[in-house]
Amino acid sequence: MKRVYLSIPHMGLNERRYVDEAFTSNWLSSVGPNIDAFERAFSKRIGLPAVALTSGTAAMHLGLRLLGVGPGDEVIVPTLTFVASVNPIRYLGARPVLVDSDPATWMLDPGLLAKALADRVARGVRPKAVVPVHLYGQSADMDPILEVCRRHDVPVLEDAAEALGTTYKGRPAGSLGEVGVFSFNGNKIITTTGGGMLVAQREEWVNRARFWSTQARDPTVEYHHTQMGYNYRMSNVLAGIGRGQLEVLDARVSQRRALAFRYRDAFADLPGLTPMPQAPYGLHTNWLSCFLVGERFGASRDDILRALEALNIESRPVWKPMHLQPLYAGCERYGGEVAADIFRRGICLPSSSSLIPEDQDRVIRAVRGLAGRRLI
Ligand SMILES: Cc1ncc(COP(=O)(O)O)c(C=O)c1O
Repeated sequence: MKRVYLSIPHMGLNERRYVDEAFTSNWLSSVGPNIDAFERAFSKRIGLPAVALTSGTAAMHLGLRLLGVGPGDEVIVPTLTFVASVNPIRYLGARPVLVDSDPATWMLDPGLLAKALADRVARGVRPKAVVPVHLYGQSADMDPILEVCRRHDVPVLEDAAEALGTTYKGRPAGSLGEVGVFSFNGNKIITTTGGGMLVAQREEWVNRARFWSTQARDPTVEYHHTQMGYNYRMSNVLAGIGRGQLEVLDARVSQRRALAFRYRDAFADLPGLTPMPQAPYGLHTNWLSCFLVGERFGASRDDILRALEALNIESRPVWKPMHLQPLYAGCERYGGEVAADIFRRGICLPSSSSLIPEDQDRVIRAVRGLAGRRLI
Protein backbone atom coordinates (compact mmCIF):
# COMPACT_ATOMS: atom_id res chain seq x y z
CA MET A 1 0.00 0.00 0.00
CA LYS A 2 1.44 3.35 -0.96
CA ARG A 3 2.30 5.66 1.93
CA VAL A 4 -0.07 8.49 2.73
CA TYR A 5 1.93 11.42 4.11
CA LEU A 6 0.91 14.11 6.56
CA SER A 7 1.67 17.15 4.41
CA ILE A 8 3.80 17.19 1.28
CA PRO A 9 4.79 19.78 -1.35
CA HIS A 10 2.29 20.43 -4.13
CA MET A 11 3.67 22.32 -7.11
CA GLY A 12 1.63 24.45 -9.49
CA LEU A 13 2.31 25.13 -13.16
CA ASN A 14 4.95 27.86 -13.15
CA GLU A 15 7.49 27.00 -10.44
CA ARG A 16 9.75 25.12 -12.86
CA ARG A 17 9.64 27.92 -15.42
CA TYR A 18 10.80 30.49 -12.84
CA VAL A 19 13.56 28.14 -11.67
CA ASP A 20 14.62 27.59 -15.30
CA GLU A 21 14.75 31.35 -15.78
CA ALA A 22 17.17 31.56 -12.86
CA PHE A 23 19.41 28.99 -14.59
CA THR A 24 19.12 30.60 -18.02
CA SER A 25 19.96 34.04 -16.70
CA ASN A 26 22.58 32.64 -14.26
CA TRP A 27 20.99 34.45 -11.30
CA LEU A 28 21.84 31.51 -9.04
CA SER A 29 22.68 33.17 -5.76
CA SER A 30 20.92 35.48 -3.33
CA VAL A 31 20.09 38.30 -5.73
CA GLY A 32 17.96 38.25 -8.85
CA PRO A 33 14.57 38.78 -10.48
CA ASN A 34 12.80 35.88 -8.70
CA ILE A 35 13.61 37.27 -5.26
CA ASP A 36 12.44 40.73 -6.26
CA ALA A 37 9.23 39.38 -7.81
CA PHE A 38 8.53 36.99 -4.92
CA GLU A 39 8.95 39.72 -2.32
CA ARG A 40 6.80 42.10 -4.37
CA ALA A 41 3.98 39.57 -4.80
CA PHE A 42 4.12 38.52 -1.14
CA SER A 43 4.12 42.10 0.00
CA LYS A 44 1.07 42.82 -2.15
CA ARG A 45 -0.76 39.83 -0.69
CA ILE A 46 -0.01 40.67 2.97
CA GLY A 47 -0.07 44.45 2.55
CA LEU A 48 3.32 45.08 4.16
CA PRO A 49 6.95 45.27 2.98
CA ALA A 50 8.62 41.84 2.99
CA VAL A 51 12.07 40.24 2.95
CA ALA A 52 12.68 36.64 1.80
CA LEU A 53 14.92 34.53 4.07
CA THR A 54 16.30 31.01 4.37
CA SER A 55 13.69 29.87 6.91
CA GLY A 56 10.88 30.90 9.21
CA THR A 57 13.25 30.34 12.11
CA ALA A 58 15.71 32.84 10.63
CA ALA A 59 12.81 35.27 10.22
CA MET A 60 11.88 34.80 13.90
CA HIS A 61 15.48 35.46 14.91
CA LEU A 62 15.71 38.69 12.90
CA GLY A 63 12.20 39.78 13.93
CA LEU A 64 12.98 39.45 17.63
CA ARG A 65 16.20 41.37 17.11
CA LEU A 66 14.26 44.14 15.35
CA LEU A 67 12.13 44.42 18.49
CA GLY A 68 15.29 44.93 20.52
CA VAL A 69 15.21 41.54 22.29
CA GLY A 70 18.55 40.88 23.93
CA PRO A 71 20.29 39.13 26.84
CA GLY A 72 18.18 38.89 29.99
CA ASP A 73 14.95 40.10 28.37
CA GLU A 74 11.66 38.26 28.66
CA VAL A 75 9.47 37.30 25.70
CA ILE A 76 5.95 35.89 26.12
CA VAL A 77 5.06 32.97 23.86
CA PRO A 78 2.34 30.29 23.97
CA THR A 79 3.44 26.98 25.44
CA LEU A 80 1.48 25.16 22.70
CA THR A 81 3.66 25.64 19.65
CA PHE A 82 6.53 24.20 17.63
CA VAL A 83 9.95 24.66 19.18
CA ALA A 84 11.05 27.07 16.41
CA SER A 85 8.76 29.76 17.90
CA VAL A 86 10.84 29.67 21.07
CA ASN A 87 14.44 28.76 20.19
CA PRO A 88 15.19 32.15 18.57
CA ILE A 89 14.32 33.83 21.89
CA ARG A 90 17.19 31.85 23.40
CA TYR A 91 19.48 32.57 20.42
CA LEU A 92 19.33 36.19 21.62
CA GLY A 93 20.01 35.29 25.25
CA ALA A 94 16.43 36.14 26.29
CA ARG A 95 13.99 34.13 28.44
CA PRO A 96 10.72 32.69 27.12
CA VAL A 97 7.73 33.08 29.46
CA LEU A 98 5.06 30.52 28.55
CA VAL A 99 1.31 31.16 28.46
CA ASP A 100 -1.48 28.61 28.03
CA SER A 101 -4.00 28.27 25.19
CA ASP A 102 -7.67 29.16 25.01
CA PRO A 103 -9.60 25.87 24.64
CA ALA A 104 -12.08 27.64 22.33
CA THR A 105 -9.40 28.31 19.70
CA TRP A 106 -6.23 26.38 20.81
CA MET A 107 -4.36 29.70 20.44
CA LEU A 108 -2.72 31.99 23.01
CA ASP A 109 -5.36 32.76 25.68
CA PRO A 110 -5.87 36.56 25.62
CA GLY A 111 -7.26 36.67 29.18
CA LEU A 112 -4.29 34.77 30.57
CA LEU A 113 -1.92 36.92 28.51
CA ALA A 114 -3.43 40.01 30.15
CA LYS A 115 -2.81 38.47 33.58
CA ALA A 116 0.72 37.45 32.65
CA LEU A 117 1.60 40.91 31.33
CA ALA A 118 0.13 42.66 34.37
CA ASP A 119 2.06 40.27 36.63
CA ARG A 120 5.37 40.74 34.83
CA VAL A 121 4.98 44.53 34.87
CA ALA A 122 4.02 44.48 38.59
CA ARG A 123 7.28 42.61 39.22
CA GLY A 124 9.18 45.32 37.43
CA VAL A 125 9.96 43.38 34.23
CA ARG A 126 8.26 44.57 31.07
CA PRO A 127 8.50 41.77 28.47
CA LYS A 128 10.34 42.88 25.35
CA ALA A 129 7.81 41.21 23.01
CA VAL A 130 4.73 39.01 22.82
CA VAL A 131 4.74 36.26 20.18
CA PRO A 132 1.23 34.98 19.36
CA VAL A 133 1.41 31.87 17.18
CA HIS A 134 -1.25 31.09 14.56
CA LEU A 135 -1.35 27.31 14.73
CA TYR A 136 -2.45 24.86 12.03
CA GLY A 137 -3.90 27.63 9.85
CA GLN A 138 -6.02 29.38 12.48
CA SER A 139 -5.39 32.93 13.69
CA ALA A 140 -5.01 33.78 17.35
CA ASP A 141 -7.65 36.25 18.61
CA MET A 142 -5.59 39.32 17.75
CA ASP A 143 -7.81 42.22 18.89
CA PRO A 144 -7.65 41.54 22.63
CA ILE A 145 -3.99 40.49 22.29
CA LEU A 146 -3.03 43.72 20.53
CA GLU A 147 -5.12 45.79 22.95
CA VAL A 148 -3.41 44.44 26.05
CA CYS A 149 0.04 44.64 24.43
CA ARG A 150 -0.56 48.29 23.43
CA ARG A 151 -1.74 49.03 26.97
CA HIS A 152 1.56 47.76 28.34
CA ASP A 153 3.57 49.17 25.46
CA VAL A 154 4.89 45.75 24.41
CA PRO A 155 5.38 45.05 20.68
CA VAL A 156 3.91 41.99 18.96
CA LEU A 157 5.69 39.54 16.65
CA GLU A 158 3.19 37.22 14.98
CA ASP A 159 4.48 33.73 14.28
CA ALA A 160 2.40 33.06 11.15
CA ALA A 161 4.67 30.22 9.98
CA GLU A 162 1.62 27.94 9.72
CA ALA A 163 -0.83 30.61 8.68
CA LEU A 164 -0.17 31.91 5.19
CA GLY A 165 -3.62 32.47 3.69
CA THR A 166 -5.27 32.72 7.11
CA THR A 167 -7.30 35.82 7.93
CA TYR A 168 -8.41 37.60 11.10
CA LYS A 169 -11.50 39.78 10.68
CA GLY A 170 -10.74 40.02 6.98
CA ARG A 171 -7.06 40.93 7.38
CA PRO A 172 -4.14 38.57 6.71
CA ALA A 173 -2.75 36.82 9.78
CA GLY A 174 0.84 38.01 10.17
CA SER A 175 0.02 41.59 9.15
CA LEU A 176 -1.37 42.85 12.46
CA GLY A 177 1.61 43.05 14.82
CA GLU A 178 4.79 45.12 14.47
CA VAL A 179 6.46 42.15 12.76
CA GLY A 180 5.11 38.99 11.10
CA VAL A 181 6.93 35.79 10.18
CA PHE A 182 6.05 33.08 7.64
CA SER A 183 7.55 29.71 6.71
CA PHE A 184 7.90 27.94 3.36
CA ASN A 185 9.20 24.72 4.88
CA GLY A 186 8.41 21.59 2.85
CA ASN A 187 5.36 20.69 4.94
CA LYS A 188 3.69 24.12 4.76
CA ILE A 189 0.70 25.20 2.67
CA ILE A 190 3.13 26.48 0.03
CA THR A 191 6.84 25.74 0.00
CA THR A 192 10.17 26.87 -1.39
CA THR A 193 11.63 23.55 -0.11
CA GLY A 194 12.84 25.64 2.81
CA GLY A 195 12.46 29.36 3.36
CA GLY A 196 10.76 32.13 5.23
CA MET A 197 9.49 35.69 4.96
CA LEU A 198 9.56 38.59 7.38
CA VAL A 199 7.07 41.45 7.10
CA ALA A 200 6.93 44.60 9.22
CA GLN A 201 4.83 47.73 9.53
CA ARG A 202 7.95 49.84 9.05
CA GLU A 203 9.80 49.58 5.76
CA GLU A 204 12.98 50.63 7.52
CA TRP A 205 12.79 47.48 9.69
CA VAL A 206 12.40 45.23 6.66
CA ASN A 207 15.44 46.88 5.09
CA ARG A 208 17.41 46.39 8.29
CA ALA A 209 16.45 42.68 8.39
CA ARG A 210 17.55 42.37 4.74
CA PHE A 211 20.87 44.00 5.63
CA TRP A 212 21.44 41.66 8.60
CA SER A 213 20.49 38.66 6.43
CA THR A 214 23.44 39.27 4.10
CA GLN A 215 26.16 39.46 6.77
CA ALA A 216 25.42 43.13 7.54
CA ARG A 217 27.96 44.26 5.02
CA ASP A 218 28.14 48.04 4.99
CA PRO A 219 27.65 49.64 1.55
CA THR A 220 31.33 50.28 0.89
CA VAL A 221 33.68 48.67 -1.63
CA GLU A 222 35.80 46.99 1.00
CA TYR A 223 34.32 44.46 3.44
CA HIS A 224 33.39 46.81 6.25
CA HIS A 225 31.18 45.82 9.20
CA THR A 226 29.69 47.82 12.03
CA GLN A 227 26.92 45.38 13.03
CA MET A 228 26.66 41.62 13.39
CA GLY A 229 24.92 39.84 10.54
CA TYR A 230 23.87 36.37 9.41
CA ASN A 231 23.75 34.34 6.22
CA TYR A 232 19.95 34.21 6.08
CA ARG A 233 19.00 35.42 2.57
CA MET A 234 16.82 33.25 0.31
CA SER A 235 18.37 32.18 -2.98
CA ASN A 236 16.98 33.38 -6.30
CA VAL A 237 16.43 29.73 -7.34
CA LEU A 238 14.17 28.96 -4.39
CA ALA A 239 12.40 32.29 -4.75
CA GLY A 240 11.41 31.04 -8.22
CA ILE A 241 9.58 28.14 -6.56
CA GLY A 242 7.99 30.61 -4.15
CA ARG A 243 6.74 32.82 -6.99
CA GLY A 244 4.95 29.91 -8.62
CA GLN A 245 3.61 28.63 -5.30
CA LEU A 246 2.17 31.99 -4.34
CA GLU A 247 0.15 31.96 -7.57
CA VAL A 248 -1.66 28.80 -6.36
CA LEU A 249 -2.01 29.75 -2.69
CA ASP A 250 -5.77 30.37 -2.88
CA ALA A 251 -6.30 27.01 -4.55
CA ARG A 252 -4.22 25.33 -1.82
CA VAL A 253 -6.29 27.02 0.90
CA SER A 254 -9.53 25.75 -0.69
CA GLN A 255 -8.10 22.25 -1.09
CA ARG A 256 -6.94 22.03 2.54
CA ARG A 257 -10.24 23.39 3.82
CA ALA A 258 -12.18 20.90 1.69
CA LEU A 259 -10.15 18.01 3.17
CA ALA A 260 -10.78 19.22 6.71
CA PHE A 261 -14.52 19.49 6.14
CA ARG A 262 -14.62 16.10 4.46
CA TYR A 263 -12.99 14.53 7.55
CA ARG A 264 -15.41 16.44 9.74
CA ASP A 265 -18.46 15.19 7.84
CA ALA A 266 -17.12 11.64 7.77
CA PHE A 267 -16.62 11.62 11.57
CA ALA A 268 -19.68 13.66 12.53
CA ASP A 269 -21.53 10.65 13.95
CA LEU A 270 -18.56 9.37 16.01
CA PRO A 271 -18.78 10.35 19.67
CA GLY A 272 -15.54 11.57 21.24
CA LEU A 273 -13.82 12.71 18.05
CA THR A 274 -13.89 16.51 18.00
CA PRO A 275 -12.47 18.64 15.20
CA MET A 276 -10.16 21.57 16.01
CA PRO A 277 -12.37 24.63 16.63
CA GLN A 278 -12.95 27.02 13.73
CA ALA A 279 -13.00 30.43 15.41
CA PRO A 280 -15.73 32.70 14.01
CA TYR A 281 -13.40 35.70 13.66
CA GLY A 282 -11.37 34.48 10.71
CA LEU A 283 -10.63 32.11 7.88
CA HIS A 284 -8.95 28.92 9.13
CA THR A 285 -6.96 27.39 6.26
CA ASN A 286 -6.85 24.03 8.09
CA TRP A 287 -3.23 23.69 7.03
CA LEU A 288 -3.43 20.48 9.04
CA SER A 289 -6.71 18.73 9.90
CA CYS A 290 -6.61 18.20 13.67
CA PHE A 291 -8.93 16.37 16.03
CA LEU A 292 -9.22 15.74 19.77
CA VAL A 293 -9.77 12.16 20.81
CA GLY A 294 -11.99 11.87 23.88
CA GLU A 295 -12.89 9.01 26.19
CA ARG A 296 -16.11 8.36 24.32
CA PHE A 297 -14.29 7.54 21.10
CA GLY A 298 -13.29 4.19 22.53
CA ALA A 299 -9.71 4.11 21.22
CA SER A 300 -7.00 6.49 22.41
CA ARG A 301 -5.07 9.05 20.37
CA ASP A 302 -2.05 6.75 20.47
CA ASP A 303 -4.15 3.79 19.32
CA ILE A 304 -5.07 5.84 16.24
CA LEU A 305 -1.44 6.88 15.59
CA ARG A 306 -0.31 3.27 15.77
CA ALA A 307 -3.16 1.84 13.72
CA LEU A 308 -2.63 4.40 10.95
CA GLU A 309 1.11 3.74 10.88
CA ALA A 310 0.42 0.01 10.50
CA LEU A 311 -1.58 0.94 7.39
CA ASN A 312 1.29 3.07 6.08
CA ILE A 313 -0.54 6.31 6.86
CA GLU A 314 1.41 9.14 8.49
CA SER A 315 -0.30 11.05 11.30
CA ARG A 316 1.15 13.06 14.18
CA PRO A 317 0.30 14.24 17.67
CA VAL A 318 -0.46 17.94 18.07
CA TRP A 319 2.65 19.95 19.07
CA LYS A 320 4.10 18.96 22.43
CA PRO A 321 3.90 22.06 24.66
CA MET A 322 7.12 23.81 25.57
CA HIS A 323 6.64 23.39 29.33
CA LEU A 324 6.72 19.60 28.77
CA GLN A 325 10.04 19.81 26.91
CA PRO A 326 13.23 19.23 28.90
CA LEU A 327 14.67 22.21 27.00
CA TYR A 328 12.03 24.63 28.32
CA ALA A 329 10.59 22.92 31.42
CA GLY A 330 12.32 25.47 33.66
CA CYS A 331 10.62 28.50 32.08
CA GLU A 332 8.18 30.60 34.05
CA ARG A 333 4.65 29.96 32.90
CA TYR A 334 1.02 30.86 33.28
CA GLY A 335 -1.19 27.78 33.09
CA GLY A 336 -0.35 24.95 30.72
CA GLU A 337 -3.08 22.44 31.48
CA VAL A 338 -5.13 23.32 28.40
CA ALA A 339 -2.12 22.91 26.10
CA ALA A 340 -1.14 19.66 27.83
CA ASP A 341 -4.64 18.27 27.30
CA ILE A 342 -4.72 19.30 23.62
CA PHE A 343 -1.33 17.63 23.19
CA ARG A 344 -2.37 14.45 25.00
CA ARG A 345 -5.54 14.01 22.96
CA GLY A 346 -4.74 15.85 19.72
CA ILE A 347 -3.96 14.22 16.40
CA CYS A 348 -3.12 15.69 12.96
CA LEU A 349 -4.40 13.63 10.03
CA PRO A 350 -3.02 13.58 6.47
CA SER A 351 -3.75 17.00 5.01
CA SER A 352 -1.73 17.42 1.81
CA SER A 353 -3.59 19.55 -0.72
CA SER A 354 -2.73 16.84 -3.27
CA LEU A 355 -4.36 14.07 -1.21
CA ILE A 356 -6.76 12.24 -3.51
CA PRO A 357 -10.24 11.22 -2.26
CA GLU A 358 -9.37 7.49 -2.45
CA ASP A 359 -6.43 8.01 -0.08
CA GLN A 360 -8.42 10.21 2.25
CA ASP A 361 -11.05 7.46 2.29
CA ARG A 362 -8.35 5.03 3.47
CA VAL A 363 -7.66 7.32 6.42
CA ILE A 364 -11.36 7.79 7.14
CA ARG A 365 -12.05 4.06 7.02
CA ALA A 366 -9.13 3.33 9.33
CA VAL A 367 -10.20 5.90 11.93
CA ARG A 368 -13.87 4.87 11.75
CA GLY A 369 -12.82 1.25 12.19
CA LEU A 370 -11.23 2.13 15.54
CA ALA A 371 -14.25 3.85 17.02
CA GLY A 372 -15.49 2.01 20.08
CA ARG A 373 -12.59 -0.43 19.97
CA ARG A 374 -9.85 0.12 22.58
CA LEU A 375 -6.76 -1.69 21.32
CA ILE A 376 -4.65 -1.88 24.46
C1 LIG B 1 4.83 27.62 14.54
C2 LIG B 1 6.11 27.57 13.76
N1 LIG B 1 7.03 28.52 13.95
C3 LIG B 1 8.17 28.55 13.27
C4 LIG B 1 8.46 27.59 12.32
C5 LIG B 1 9.79 27.63 11.67
O1 LIG B 1 9.76 27.68 10.28
P1 LIG B 1 10.96 27.04 9.41
O2 LIG B 1 10.78 25.57 9.43
O3 LIG B 1 10.76 27.64 8.07
O4 LIG B 1 12.25 27.48 10.03
C6 LIG B 1 7.53 26.57 12.06
C7 LIG B 1 7.69 25.52 11.03
O5 LIG B 1 8.54 24.80 10.82
C8 LIG B 1 6.33 26.55 12.82
O6 LIG B 1 5.43 25.57 12.63
